[in-house]
Amino acid sequence: MVDTLKWNIQDDGKYNSQAINQAAALLKQGQTVAFPTETVYGLGADATNPEAVSKIFEAKGRPQDNPLIAHVATMEQLIKLVDNIPPYVKTLIDTFSPGPITYVLPSNGTCAANVTAGLPTIGVRIPDHPVAQALLRKCDIPIAAPSANISGKPSPTTAYHVFEDLQGKIAGILDGGATGVGVESTVIDCTEAIPTILRPGGITVEQLQAVVGDVNVDPALVSSTERPKAPGMKYRHYSPEVPLWLVQGTALEIQQVIEREQRNGARIAVLASAGTAKLLHTEEIFILGDNINDIATHLYDALRKYKSSDVDLIVCEAFQEFGIGQAVMNRLKKAASKYLVN
Ligand code: TXA
Ligand code: MG
Repeated sequence: MVDTLKWNIQDDGKYNSQAINQAAALLKQGQTVAFPTETVYGLGADATNPEAVSKIFEAKGRPQDNPLIAHVATMEQLIKLVDNIPPYVKTLIDTFSPGPITYVLPSNGTCAANVTAGLPTIGVRIPDHPVAQALLRKCDIPIAAPSANISGKPSPTTAYHVFEDLQGKIAGILDGGATGVGVESTVIDCTEAIPTILRPGGITVEQLQAVVGDVNVDPALVSSTERPKAPGMKYRHYSPEVPLWLVQGTALEIQQVIEREQRNGARIAVLASAGTAKLLHTEEIFILGDNINDIATHLYDALRKYKSSDVDLIVCEAFQEFGIGQAVMNRLKKAASKYLVN
């Protein structure tokens, strides 16, 4: 156990604060520090220092074969980590970075081998959050950072979520308030002539197609018999403490599932859009939002909220797999123990 430092910089106004300096100093000393990004909180360590990187795997209980994303503040820093950048990546960076997108490119070996879990490629990303940007600029080293949760649990969108999972296991947490996008970055393989989405995320396939034309999707995202190209996508993930059923259907059909399970004695919590929630008659409803972007923002908070002492089953509405709805449904299908399609 270590004493995890906490810095509250939500109301700081200017981010070039004492807290950023202390957090950057700890990272440069080889310690782990959690920080907010626009997607979810990350658990950072010096990506050029293998001992520092191994502390991330240890704190999270992360499988050793799952590579980490290297975070940098600028395009100039990003290109120093990789080789063979296809021209379309420049277009993607100009359009979407800083932002919720991770480019998988051939590593040039600047980052430690355990960042890439021994793969010849590395995921690189420029986050768009003032705290992440200030921290990365202050460190001036690439920072390896997976989501700052215990492996298998929903990703953290508040400093409190990080605290719940990692307190006593990491050197510090920068509390920059709730993150915005709510689901992780889109991971896109850029090692071929046409890019391939390995993980749907904050930048949608429609946005990518509008800029570079052809975009492939890893077949494992649509068929469960394919082996995913992003090692992390093969694991069961985002699991709430309580079993979750994902229900595709009308409000009436969702209501029928709720009532049937209540008759069986189950204490139920429901996750739904504002529109559907209005039509449901049950006590515990978490309103995720009234549009799919809000739903993405609040998803992980909802998945983390219910504890087995209070609830036996979470019933969640299924959403349209369009725009960021693809990322939302990708995470919900992994979180669900049952997917009921009406
Ligand atoms: O939004 C995000 O991406 C957040 C914030 C903190 O930046 N980070 C995040 O990291 O979600 P993590 O480690 O939880 O997920 C990274 C995903 C995993 O599925 C991993 O297997 C994949 O990216 N990945 C990383 N490097 C890769 C590589 N070289 N080739 C294929 N997949 C890779
Ligand atoms: Mg993760």
